[in-house]
Amino acid sequence: MKALLLVGGKGTRLRPLTDRRPKPMVPIMGKPLLTRTLYVLKQHGIDEIVLSTCYKSDVIKSYFGDGSQLGLTIHYVDEDFPLGTGGAIKNSAKYFDDSFFVLNADILSNINFTEMLRFHRRKKADVTIAVTRVNDPSAYGVIEFDKDGYALSFREKPQKIISHFINAGVYIFEPGVLAKIPSGRAVSVEREVFPGLLESGRKIAVYKGCNYWMDIGTPEKYIKVHHDGFTGKLQLPEINFRQRSVYSRFNARISGSAILRGPVYLGKGVRIEEGAVVGPGVVIGDNGVIGSGCRVSRSVLWNNVNLTDGSKLTGCIVTDSCRIENISEYRHEIFTPDSTKNINPLAI
Ligand code: GDD
Ligand code: MG
Repeated sequence: MKALLLVGGKGTRLRPLTDRRPKPMVPIMGKPLLTRTLYVLKQHGIDEIVLSTCYKSDVIKSYFGDGSQLGLTIHYVDEDFPLGTGGAIKNSAKYFDDSFFVLNADILSNINFTEMLRFHRRKKADVTIAVTRVNDPSAYGVIEFDKDGYALSFREKPQKIISHFINAGVYIFEPGVLAKIPSGRAVSVEREVFPGLLESGRKIAVYKGCNYWMDIGTPEKYIKVHHDGFTGKLQLPEINFRQRSVYSRFNARISGSAILRGPVYLGKGVRIEEGAVVGPGVVIGDNGVIGSGCRVSRSVLWNNVNLTDGSKLTGCIVTDSCRIENISEYRHEIFTPDSTKNINPLAI
């Protein structure tokens, strides 16, 4: 079975994390978000993948290549200009002649794809959309549906709350639907394609089997997903913090007087110097150096980060290759090599 992943968005709300990497490449405990999704698809027998790319496509292509390292076949469809979510699906049409999955690439969920496909077939739907319940639906696409589980209306980013069920960004399409999407221009699947299909009498089923769901749309959500990984609310295949509170990938050098307070995830070649206290809730990417006397809690450090002796970080994100040189106490800040930005702790 095949899946199309929409990976072309600019990730504007996730800036500055997306200044140098496209959104699907932000790391979630040592692996790009997209790798995590591809693993799960593969477990469900979905091993032929089409990546619909636009923003920073070279970063994605050079990382995944033809997919063989993950045991997948990956095809790329590039856009000269952003075609929107519907335009991207139309643009990839030549790959699909049977039911196929379409996924937004900025979400993590525990959707059971096999079960969703069974549901789609049972409902004899043209499209099935996974929905999830959220408290505040205003940043999402809200879907109303009837008692038999078929969609009645779509409202993208509504001002007024009419339902708490939102589009979870996972669809199954029948290939016949592709003919209904216009080509050569930007099209929104949520605002144009889905409402158009309803108007023309096509059946759109709504699948509710999604217990864990999170979109990584903002830095606050990015932090939240890591909290969920640490508490086990989000299950990550190779990491279970209930079994082991400190995960160290390879070759970490931890001074005898440093203290690790799990849950902590350490990448390859991490060095933690004398008297540093790391954790709880900390990710340190590959080759991170935590200087002596540093205190780091509830923070995510990407690769090659260097903290000067005595720095204190709480609730921070530090992107690749940053050196934090001023000895100070930082709370709820994002560091990139060129900028800093605040995180709103109340939105986590
Ligand atoms: N190829 C391509 N081209 N991909 C795109 C484009 C484009 O022009 N625009 C967006 N994408 C990709 C993004 O990379 C992302 O994976 C997906 O399409 C959705 O775009 P977002 O920009 O993240 O949309 P959103 O978060 O505002 O809303 C969407 O997701 C919500 C769930 O997270 C909608 O589908 C909502 O209805 C939904 O509730
Ligand atoms: Mg999104």
